Amino acid sequence: MKKIRIAIAGLGNCASSLIQGIYYYESRSPEDAIGLMHWQIGPYRPSDIEVVAAFDIDKRKVGRDVNQAIFAKPNCTKVFCGDLPVSGVKVRMGRILDGFSEHMQNYDESRTFVPATAQEPGKEEVVRVLKESGAEMLLNYLPVGSEEATRFYAECALEANIGFVNNIPVFIASNPVWEARFAEKNLPIIGDDIKAQLGATITHRTLTDLFRKRGVKLERTYQLNTGGNTDFLNMLNRDRLLSKKVSKTEAVQAVADTRLDDVNIHVGPSDYVAWQNDNKVCFIRMEGKLFGDVPMNLELRLSVEDSPNSAGVAIDAVRCVKLALDNGIGGVLEGPSSYFCKHPIRQFNDDRAYQMTKDFIRKYSK
Ligand SMILES: NC(=O)c1ccc[n+]([C@@H]2O[C@H](COP(=O)([O-])OP(=O)(O)OC[C@H]3O[C@@H](n4cnc5c(N)ncnc54)[C@H](O)[C@@H]3O)[C@@H](O)[C@H]2O)c1
Repeated sequence: MKKIRIAIAGLGNCASSLIQGIYYYESRSPEDAIGLMHWQIGPYRPSDIEVVAAFDIDKRKVGRDVNQAIFAKPNCTKVFCGDLPVSGVKVRMGRILDGFSEHMQNYDESRTFVPATAQEPGKEEVVRVLKESGAEMLLNYLPVGSEEATRFYAECALEANIGFVNNIPVFIASNPVWEARFAEKNLPIIGDDIKAQLGATITHRTLTDLFRKRGVKLERTYQLNTGGNTDFLNMLNRDRLLSKKVSKTEAVQAVADTRLDDVNIHVGPSDYVAWQNDNKVCFIRMEGKLFGDVPMNLELRLSVEDSPNSAGVAIDAVRCVKLALDNGIGGVLEGPSSYFCKHPIRQFNDDRAYQMTKDFIRKYSK
């Protein structure tokens, strides 16, 4: 069985959950594997994924074996598969750029990123590592607001001739200029901003779609989210938040019957509650009018572990990029991007996106 060789930029909680999952499902069979959308995509199972290169900037991660670094602080996600073998792949120093937000210095080190003092690599160095490692795609897991750093790693992926999975809300796959650059080189890309398996976005979208289908006029809505991981701490710097808010708000607006005025929709990360760690709690309120113009409202509270929730989708995104590579397909993978991500280049409702993804997998599975 062929392996899928991936490189990762940002070994935080999401990467930790993904890597744990690769090992967790190794000992499972299709009958007892819980929590996957697909056991197999083409010939690939979760355990066929292999991390061959990784970049981070935190002193507790750089220089360590990947399978140890994912358990280093400030990572705080639930450990569901803690007994990992040594991978033999050392975490390399990444290029910091805007990956680190200064406000983190006001918090205890156990909760924040602590930049390593190692020499930062240039583009040539990162490209060389990617090429020598045999990586077939790069997964971007940088903090929200890492605009320059994301462009740096996307540039490296292009130069190394590999695919790209953009898990974060910096617009690359949904930016026509970047989209064209990946298409030109026939390199597959999925993005932007991964949509968790059963998280706030998919739940809010599904309910919004339900209002539309049932003829209930949605007049006002909010989605407030709290969490205690570094993703939430990072997002306390409101200057980094713009694209996250756009991504999350548009994901809901896109499935509404008619767009809500800006004043009537509020969607976004709301606060950092340290003791929640990687537990994310989401509060949704929707106000509408049904038959006879009679008002109604709905309140929902969703509690999830944030990072495994995204890994359950990333594990499929990686395998779809691999299918594209096997079949010589490049550019944005539209079905998978719209099903797996909050901010694809084109929005479809989730039924349609699901079908497009199924069709993609069926068409390119050998
Ligand atoms: N959890 C989810 O469901 C979900 C959903 C959508 C998007 N995301 C996004 O995925 C990204 C990763 O999330 P997370 O929870 O793993 O974050 P995290 O804070 O746990 O991890 C970020 C990692 O990036 C590293 N880093 C910072 N700057 C870097 C640089 N320049 N080069 C290399 N590494 C760098 C940090 O040291 C840290 O290890 C975030 O942007 C988050 O918003 C997560």
